[in-house]
Amino acid sequence: MLYLIGNWKMAPEKNTQVVDLVKKSREIAKLYKKNITTIICPPTAFLSTVMKNAKVPLLVGSQGVAGNPAIAQTGLTSVHMLKENGAAYCIVGHSEMRARGDSNADVKEQITRLFEKKLVPILCIGEKNHDAQGWYLSEVKDQLETAFEGLTPAQAKKIIIAYEPVWAIGAQAVRAATPVECREMIIFICKFLTDKYGTAVAKVIPILYGGSADEHNAKSFVEEGGAQGFLVGRVSLDAKRLGLLAKSIS
Ligand code: PGA
Repeated sequence: MLYLIGNWKMAPEKNTQVVDLVKKSREIAKLYKKNITTIICPPTAFLSTVMKNAKVPLLVGSQGVAGNPAIAQTGLTSVHMLKENGAAYCIVGHSEMRARGDSNADVKEQITRLFEKKLVPILCIGEKNHDAQGWYLSEVKDQLETAFEGLTPAQAKKIIIAYEPVWAIGAQAVRAATPVECREMIIFICKFLTDKYGTAVAKVIPILYGGSADEHNAKSFVEEGGAQGFLVGRVSLDAKRLGLLAKSIS
């Protein structure tokens, strides 16, 4: 089973556009449900609008959760609120959140909160720079070590990993990673998971790719890069392109 996860970030702006995009995303989810699990992660402000219009097989997640359980956290959303509003998944460790200050320890706290309410963490990891010597691997190793610290095999199995090299994300991306770069990192992540939990557990943890993934490169990321799906930003806001991406990998 492949995953197609849409990270809507701060779009769209209008309720009517949200309803339209949910309906179109749902058609895509239905069309490819045999081999693709489709999840959308709208802005928190639209979560209830999305829930009113999203039906299985389209699943819904959040873009973030407060790690600190204290009640007074201006601007943040608690896991209780996410649960109450129907989110079953939640992105943590996205590079745009890390850039605004989320440390590896913060990401770990967020994962703990999600497990308390049985939400599935979509754990984003990825290096800021891709140096020729491969030192970036230690940056990713630190992210993995902190995120998985103390997790039981049963908890580890619930996590979805998205490898998102920071330099490949969004409109300012240098370029997408190549399938070869993706495969290299997926092997590295598999090795980390296998050393920690053994092959049986490691094999069930999906590792997705994210960063300028689109309808043209998705197939090669799956076939040559070993990606088990995608976390997509821009393309998730364009139902036509999202549909073409799904078609290309189904
Ligand atoms: P992009 O964003 O697909 O627009 O590069 C990916 C992400 O930020 O998760």
